[in-house]
Amino acid sequence: MARVNEHYAKLQAGYLFPEIGRRVRAFVEANGGEVIRLGIGDVTEPLAPVIVDALKAAADEMGTAEGFRGYGPENGYDFLLDAIREHDYGSRGVDVAADEIFVSDGSKQDSGNIQEIFGTTCKVAVSDPVYPVYVDTNVMAGRTGEADADGRYAGILYLPATEANGFAPEPPSEAVDLAYLCSPNNPTGSVMSKELLGRWVAWAREVGAVLVFDAAYDAFIQSPELPRSIFEIDGARECAIEMRSFSKRAGFTGVRCAYTTIPKELEGTAADGSRVSIRDLWSRRHATKFNSVPYVIQRAAEAVFSPEGRKQTAEQVAFYMENARRVREGLGAAGFTVFGGDNAPYIWMRTPDGASSWDFFDRLLSETRVVGTPGSGFGPAGEGYFRISAFNSRENVDEAIARIGRAFRALGTGS
Ligand code: MLT
Repeated sequence: MARVNEHYAKLQAGYLFPEIGRRVRAFVEANGGEVIRLGIGDVTEPLAPVIVDALKAAADEMGTAEGFRGYGPENGYDFLLDAIREHDYGSRGVDVAADEIFVSDGSKQDSGNIQEIFGTTCKVAVSDPVYPVYVDTNVMAGRTGEADADGRYAGILYLPATEANGFAPEPPSEAVDLAYLCSPNNPTGSVMSKELLGRWVAWAREVGAVLVFDAAYDAFIQSPELPRSIFEIDGARECAIEMRSFSKRAGFTGVRCAYTTIPKELEGTAADGSRVSIRDLWSRRHATKFNSVPYVIQRAAEAVFSPEGRKQTAEQVAFYMENARRVREGLGAAGFTVFGGDNAPYIWMRTPDGASSWDFFDRLLSETRVVGTPGSGFGPAGEGYFRISAFNSRENVDEAIARIGRAFRALGTGS
């Protein structure tokens, strides 16, 4: 029989969101009725009209002899690369070349796959709590030892993201090869300032680390002075990779389109000490393992940047951010200690009375029929915290917060 990849056996339980889904299904089977889902950060608003029009027009084109297209360019069609360059980068004073952008079917995939082009002995740093994909994919690749009793894998450097540091850790004092940063942060909703990101870039250049910067939630940043791209920071072209997505900013979680930007200046080393272009390695991987995002989807993504597209998607982001405000204020009024939610669609809260994250999950589900995400699912430092997502209808968000307020005020258990 074929030997399996035994590194998979080190993984802790199942992936977080399927596990939540399993528990919610069991609850609904046992108790009937509906629940309000503020767990996984999945968008709920329909696609903006201008995006639907672009999808339909591209589908019609594909049905004609002149408009039909087969395999697309692996890195993306020029019309989308140019729109990204102009609107996501040029508008922030950042110059990125078209061949430094790789259009893909999602930032989850990109942030999980990027580790493949680095050596298996590379030392990895992550914040704790953290988006589980960064850790699990490094475990699968054999870059770690076993997990300890708290769930921390040997060989990974965990940087606690705590109330004391505003859930935005400083660079470590020791050197690593790869450091994953996510801003606006999933799960805590914190955002890294230009100054903090500047310290990360300076550190990475000094120790020779590569920063993997996940900016999937950049559209939710409200304060103009906060950086949306790591390439707004001087020197980042020599040390950073960036991932951005259409999923949350334009409702593409079921449509699938994202991109990864790797500047030509970014280099790693080979065993003989020679320098290797990271961009070229990713390009090689992309060409071997990926056959481009469908034409119709790239046309839909292009429409996000049209004047109407920018207006319509900005309205959706504003809608979710109003949800976030209501969650933050409603939970605060109910006595909870809350964080995030002002430049991100996630609200991070302390569980009441020091309850464990999963105990609070069960209690919230049974007493209010509201689903959130246990903070401990994002790492040991998330224990005692809980994440509420702002992605849902206004009606459901208001109802969820009213129920939580009633349940917890009545019990007098706000934290
Ligand atoms: C989340 O809820 O953390 C996100 O939906 C995860 C993702 O985007 O993959």
